[in-house]
Amino acid sequence: MNVSRKFPQSRLRRARFTSSIRSLVAENSLSVNDLIQPIFVKEDLDGIESIDSLPGINRYGLNALDKEIEKIQNNKIKAVAIFPVINPEKKDDQGSESLNEDNLVCTAIKQIKKNSELAVIADVALDPYTSHGHDGVLDENGYVENDKSLSLLIEQALTLAKAGADMVAPSDMMDGRIAGIRDSLESNDFANTIILSYAAKYSSKFYGPFRDAVGSSTNLGAGSKDTYQMSVANIEEALHEVKMDIEEGADIVMVKPGMPYLDVIKAVKDTFKVPTFAYQVSGEYAMLKAAIENDWLADEVLEESLLSFKRAGADCVLTYAANEIAIKLNQQNLA
Ligand code: PBG
Repeated sequence: MNVSRKFPQSRLRRARFTSSIRSLVAENSLSVNDLIQPIFVKEDLDGIESIDSLPGINRYGLNALDKEIEKIQNNKIKAVAIFPVINPEKKDDQGSESLNEDNLVCTAIKQIKKNSELAVIADVALDPYTSHGHDGVLDENGYVENDKSLSLLIEQALTLAKAGADMVAPSDMMDGRIAGIRDSLESNDFANTIILSYAAKYSSKFYGPFRDAVGSSTNLGAGSKDTYQMSVANIEEALHEVKMDIEEGADIVMVKPGMPYLDVIKAVKDTFKVPTFAYQVSGEYAMLKAAIENDWLADEVLEESLLSFKRAGADCVLTYAANEIAIKLNQQNLA
């Protein structure tokens, strides 16, 4: 850094004098290309259903999905991350419904791919499908068994690729999943399916509203995911996870949650210089929205929070606010 000049030769406020000048010296900016909209589809639902803990976000029945997809596409967003809300009767201890090629998420992926240009990201994890709400399967002591879970997750990823997902996104945090999924995709003619790895996924309490949204919180009960998701105390371990996932064949890595982990995003991007996404998770969105709805915060905090991801080095952010922010950004571009 070269800061040899002192006041008054150097007055940093000169470059803040007008809005035009502030724009010229802006180091980072937010565009619709930086935003991915997560979307919940619910089995047997006719129309839409709101989610109390995620203001403005709905669950969509398949008969209401096309309209929402059209809206997202009109907002110039390029990708959606799709999450299924499964009929509770279909849940079992193995998450078997996840391997059904005609299940809800596969049907929704086909529907979106048929009717839009959007890239579709599909989660690889068993929690929407298991009666116990864990991302993998349990042994007799209730421990989430890595290698047995792996074989199911690998098959789930292939099922999603076959349905037409552009990216499969393992969010389960089992060891070895990326290598297993990559091998299986390669040997089954899915060489161009992207693996977006939730590489540094923390065992966070910020996922609460998501678990309400997909209906896995009651299944999980007091259970925690601490034996597979990362400890919130660690950052070097995050770099280790990311390194392993890149070596195993991940194309894009993700850090999750987002705002409380900007240090991790920055460290990952600076260290590996690979495409790095961040997930502004449900609890972060809920927190900001609650304050905005109470008029405790101005709604610009959403944009401010998203720009902070760009500053930290994220290439893209999964955020529940994607639609809302895209509309704003598009209006600003017209102005
Ligand atoms: C499933 C999954 C979770 C999220 C994305 N995929 C929840 C969890 O791990 O319990 C959280 C997303 C959010 O909170 O917005 N494995």
